Amino acid sequence: MEFKRNVVLGVSGGIAAYKALDVVSALRKKGINVDVIMTEHAAKFVTPLTFQSLSANSVIVDMFDEPKVWEIQHISLAKKADLILVVPATANIIGKVANGIADDMLSTTIMASKAPVLFAPAMNTVMYVNPIVQQNIERLKSIGYEFIEPASGILACGDEGKGKLPDPKLITEIALTKLYTNKDLYGKRILVTAGPTNAPIDPVRFICNHSSGKMGYSIAEVARDRGAEVVLVSGPTNLDIPYGVKVIRVNTNSEMLNAVLDNFDNSDIVIKCAAVADYKPESYSEIKIKKAGGILDLRLIQDTDILFELGRRKTDKQILVGFAAESNDLIENAKTKIVKKNLDYIVANDIMLKDTGFGSDYNKVSIISKDGEIVNLDKMSKRAVGEEIFNTIVKRR
Ligand code: PMT
Repeated sequence: MEFKRNVVLGVSGGIAAYKALDVVSALRKKGINVDVIMTEHAAKFVTPLTFQSLSANSVIVDMFDEPKVWEIQHISLAKKADLILVVPATANIIGKVANGIADDMLSTTIMASKAPVLFAPAMNTVMYVNPIVQQNIERLKSIGYEFIEPASGILACGDEGKGKLPDPKLITEIALTKLYTNKDLYGKRILVTAGPTNAPIDPVRFICNHSSGKMGYSIAEVARDRGAEVVLVSGPTNLDIPYGVKVIRVNTNSEMLNAVLDNFDNSDIVIKCAAVADYKPESYSEIKIKKAGGILDLRLIQDTDILFELGRRKTDKQILVGFAAESNDLIENAKTKIVKKNLDYIVANDIMLKDTGFGSDYNKVSIISKDGEIVNLDKMSKRAVGEEIFNTIVKRR
């Protein structure tokens, strides 16, 4: 497997060292190569072998170990790194770097690298607020080193306060945004919708569909990483809120309509990926409908076509992108929707294909522009589909 980006993960000696294992796994799942450097103290909390197994790379602890391949290791890793991420960062490693001390593999590699360095501090709260530590952090920030704010809560030592390592998922997401150098959407405001909407029948039941939100969330994350300011209007999903994205949670078609209209005029690009309910029960029962035997008739009436409403309001400066979930006549049906809903692009997916579309981590789509140009894409991750959508928009602008 060829990795496109390289992270050097520095692990220093704190109780939170085990959480760095989740960061290694998460980065690897995103296709990032991870080389781990541990301090000697870190190796007392977690074995290097564990990091080696998860990163699939040898782990360096001692500067004077015989290298596997002959090269000066701190220099080669320092050059190779697109990002140095220190998780957890103790008061000790922060203090060393802030004061120019390079006496082990981690501090030496940081000193010898031009890559951005991101520290995720974790330590006892009294240590964290100690003016010496705070001055070291401020000094490092003033010369371009970056920090992820520790979380507050009950610490491993029993004290309560600031100093906990943030969720490894959050650390990973922040690291990913730093690794992303293409900021071609900088200055753009992008509105994305994702997930299903519910059409309630009574306090217990509702009509819904299989949308997981993964496609829309991936689009929002790509837009964020490429520098845009992103608002994500999300129907009910189990997905974590993406870091750095403003998320508005909604439940029904009308809640989605209101949230989208509130943000529409301010948006440069709008991508409507949500699988919105087209129909809702003619009347909502305030009380639970009792089982009465035989057939229950449920009359459905049409609900608002949100995308159609956006197409009517769209100005020449805005780009409006719809999705088309089709089970037959993919391209013809999608083209009809471009015209009917006044879209600039439609992303057509054939929902009958296996392991793509609804619920999957993959999608296979064609991006069709209003002048009829079609980009047929292979099956790829939803994140890669998001990249392709913005590549098409940026190229054609
Ligand atoms: O969420 P995932 O599990 O990742 O799955 C992704 C997906 C399959 C949901 C996604 O790729 C997708 O196809 N989304 C659009 C689903 C859909 O509602 O398609 P449609 O052809 O019915 O609607 C066409 C367009 O009109 C869509 O942009 C939709 O958001 C919009 N619409 C539809 C109905 C309605 N009442 N209001 C709308 O705005």
